[in-house]
Amino acid sequence: MRIAVLASGNGSNFAAIVDFFQKEKLSVEIALVFSDKKNAFVLERAKKVGVATYQFSPQDFSDKKMYEKSLLELLQQEKIDLVVLAGYMRIIGPQLLAAFPKKIINIHPSLLPAFPGLHGIKDAYDYGVKVTGVTVHYIDDGVDTGPIIAQVPVLITTDDDLTSLETKIHQAEHQLYPAVLKEIVLEKQDRY
Ligand code: GRF
Repeated sequence: MRIAVLASGNGSNFAAIVDFFQKEKLSVEIALVFSDKKNAFVLERAKKVGVATYQFSPQDFSDKKMYEKSLLELLQQEKIDLVVLAGYMRIIGPQLLAAFPKKIINIHPSLLPAFPGLHGIKDAYDYGVKVTGVTVHYIDDGVDTGPIIAQVPVLITTDDDLTSLETKIHQAEHQLYPAVLKEIVLEKQDRY
């Protein structure tokens, strides 16, 4: 299975996924990293581990449709089976969704449907919930609304501040995302 990771920023989930699949004997290739942001640290991480990188932004095109078209062409040329969003800060448009039905997944730092949007960790912390967590879900045409694949809870204790909560959430993400990918890969292998 050829996986593409789409990311806009730091790339710690990308790194966790690469680490995991280096140790597992599965026929999975992290074929490429794509970023819409020129200076995204995920691109440095990918270069260090020898994963191909691609970068372009909607601003490089006449409109968003053309941007999506180019991204779709890239994914098709590279024969990508599964698109993994890891901190990709854009909505996936209809062309990509139609070309990869149930083949685009995302990780979100809260227990959806609670606290969707850009600030899932802070919103949960500010609300004062005692349990938050991490969700992996399929992408649909909404924001953080697609069918849920897996979730893990993360407790917020009286000792936590926002920084310690962020650390706990990211640790949970780095466990959950590779584990979910492994399940998806194994199911696919069974089907063939
Ligand atoms: C993660 O918290 C993920 O849940 C959210 O964006 C963040 C990406 O972090 N969608 P990183 O770039 O993988 O370090």
